[in-house]
This record gives sequence, C-alpha cells and structure tokens, in this order.
Amino acid sequence: MPFLICSLLVSFCWAQPKIDPATIKDKMQWFADAKLGIFIHAGIYSVNGIDESWSFHNKKIAYDDYMKQLNGFTLKNYNPSQWADLIKESGARYAVITTKHHDGVAMYDTKMNNLSVVKATPAKKDMVKPFFDELRKRDIKCGAYYSLIDWSHKDYPGFLNDSARYEVKNDYDRWNRFRSFFQGQIKEIGTQFKPDLWWFDGDWEHSAEEWEAEKVRSIILANNPNAIINGRLQGYGDYATPEQNFPVSRPHLNWWELCMTTNDNWGYHHDNNWKTPYEVISIFVDAVSNGGNLLLDMGPMEDGTIPAEQVNVLQELGAWNQRNGEAIFNTLGGIPQGHFYGPTTLSKDSSTLYLFLHGKTTGPVMLKGLDCTIKNITVLGNGTTLTHKVVGKISWSPVPGLVYINVPEGAQDKYITVLKLSLDKAIKLYRGQGGLN
Ligand code: GLC
Repeated sequence: MPFLICSLLVSFCWAQPKIDPATIKDKMQWFADAKLGIFIHAGIYSVNGIDESWSFHNKKIAYDDYMKQLNGFTLKNYNPSQWADLIKESGARYAVITTKHHDGVAMYDTKMNNLSVVKATPAKKDMVKPFFDELRKRDIKCGAYYSLIDWSHKDYPGFLNDSARYEVKNDYDRWNRFRSFFQGQIKEIGTQFKPDLWWFDGDWEHSAEEWEAEKVRSIILANNPNAIINGRLQGYGDYATPEQNFPVSRPHLNWWELCMTTNDNWGYHHDNNWKTPYEVISIFVDAVSNGGNLLLDMGPMEDGTIPAEQVNVLQELGAWNQRNGEAIFNTLGGIPQGHFYGPTTLSKDSSTLYLFLHGKTTGPVMLKGLDCTIKNITVLGNGTTLTHKVVGKISWSPVPGLVYINVPEGAQDKYITVLKLSLDKAIKLYRGQGGLN
C-alpha cells in the first residue's frame, strides 16, 4: 500500500469501536487525568537518520542496506535514568517506547527470533526493561508501542510497497505461523514488562479476524486487566489516536490522544524543522481543552543521546507546566467554543474555569454566556489578581452579560498565560441566541 494512503488511513481511521466505554471507564481514569505522554521512537533507523521502516518499504534504500544499520546501533550513551528525569521534568505522566517497529527489530531480548538489538547489534542490550524501571521509580506510567506489521518476518505477507510475499487467503498455514510469532512477542512483552498501556500500530494491513484482535486484547487483559490499549487494534482498543492531525471541532470521544512529532519525523532524522516550545505548548493546550491528551515524540540517536532541541522543548514545556499545570492535569476539557475565543479547561467540579491566552494578550478579554458569578480571577504562575466588569446585563432577561477581564501588561506568561476564574458554583452556560429565543 503506498505510503500516502497508509498515512491517511492511520490518521483518520478509528475502526468502529467494539468496546463499550462504560466497561472501561475506571481503568481509563489515570489516562484521562494524565494529559501528557512522551513517545519514544528508538530504532536502528537512527543510525543513518532515515525514515523508520518506511524508508526501505518505500524503496528509498534497499532492504539489505537498511538492515546494515544494525551494525551501527550502539546505545553507548544510553542513560534510561536521564531519560526518565527529562520526562518527569516535562510534566508527562506516561511514556510510550517502541518495542518493535514495522522493520521487525525488537528493542528487547525476544526469544521468538534473533532480530533484536540484543542479539543483532553492538548495543547488545534490552532497552525496554531499564527504561520502564526508571519510569516506575518516578511514578510515570509505562507504555509499549508494538507494530503488528513485521516487514522483516519471512512469514509476514507484506514487504515492499509494491511487493508482497503472499496473500493470507492463499496460505493460512503460513499466516498462522506469523500469528503465533507476533502473539508470542505480545506475551513476552506482557509478562516481562507489564505495560500499563499498549500502543499498537499497523493494524491497517489486516482485518480484526486476521489479526485475531479480540484474542490479542484478551491475552493482554489476562496478564493485566487494567492495561489500556490504543485504538489501532481494529476496533478492540480503548481510545483514539489521531496522528499529526489537530481536531478543529471537539471530537465526540471519551478518550483520545494526539500523537505528534517535535520536528517532522518520529525517529532521529536530519530534519531541522523543530516546533518551537510556544508551538508545542499551544498545541498541547488545544488538545487538552478539546478533551484529549498529547503524546509528544522524541527520536533518540543511535547512541542513546536525545537531540538538544528536543531536550529544550521538553524542559520549556515542563517549566510552563510548573507554572500552569493546575489548569491542565486532572482537569476536564473546557467549555464549548463560542464563549471564549481561546482554549479553556475546567476543574473536576466545574467551579473553576481556566482561560488560556495566546501570545502576549493584554487588555480586556471577553467571555460570553457565563451564567454564574465570578468570585475572583488570578493569573496562574504569578498570582496577580485581575479585575473584571459585567457589561450589558438586562435585569429581566435570561441572557447573561458579557464579562470583560482586564489583563495588564507584565502579568503574562512567557508562552501562554492562564487565567483562573473561581466561580460561585459549578459552571452554568447560556447557549441561546440572545433575544431570538
Ligand atoms: C505511523 C507510522 C509509524 C509511526 C507511527 C506513530 O503509523 O507507520 O512510522 O511509528 O505512526 O504514530
């Protein structure tokens, strides 16, 4: 399947969910509260700095040359404790690492074949276990990315974008061999690392029946009933994962997560199109305001070094979270669009409304349709108290007046300023059309 089509499928495809949200509500709570995760694409593709797996699939490089990168993957400066410190510093509550990408190279010591960084690279070590240990010491949830696709496995049908090894329907014995293989790896990962979250990828190449998606789900839940599974399991996952695509209107979903690169690539790449801290923070705020999480990616180098630009983004994001995290973590998505021209969130009891101001906004900012009284307004991070005025309230009308909040010079955050509005009760909004109804 050509890359473009795959990307579109991956980006928009959220197979008809088979799981009733009411049955998973409790186990999803930490995820709903977490808001920020860090994605790590570690793999041999970092040796040349080329597209993860897709580079050989799309014939930008011959398969054999791609695989030569095995010889250059050293992890000689891999420091999982430093990684975990950085992730903690960013404010993230979970991290997801590649245990195997579409190229089939396991990042841990799989016993199912010899294609792993432990057996086939100079690194000779399992990346996953020490990383999860460090995350757990810091109370960060552990996620395992696992590609169902395995373009290296001799019994996997797919290979290059214009050539496949065989069709499943023509050779079920062969497909069954592959199924035992990948389900064996899932059992290994489940028992060895006990992921809190599974992040599948590549389900689009086969149907739920072909993957035995329901069985895969039960293998995982038998080992850890609380494990969360992302939506790339042909309907048998728990939450949706729009990729690099920012919803404009609020998704009608209980749980979703925007996964996004820091530059334009998942793995380490010669690509300097870095998003600035401001851009990342504004995208993060937008996702949270729309009821979602952000899974922000980093792509370490083959020796385990995290590029300086990514370190900087995570640190700036972390510092912003230090000042403003009250408006992010453990909150609810904000009020519907139209009341305030910017992102918003609510405290769990809905009696505190947070308004996010982009850029260096000063002066009166307006809020419409707020049908309750504001007790006070402060700026997060510096505690400045702000004044406000209610304009145009007509005594006999149910339509609330407009609220204008004065934001003075100097009260702004370096990136995005958050106003905290304490209300007299759980928020009530007027959503009508003024005098027209
Ligand atoms: C895509 C790509 C893959 C990347 C992933 C991250 O599906 O196939 O290379 O790892 O998305 O979301």
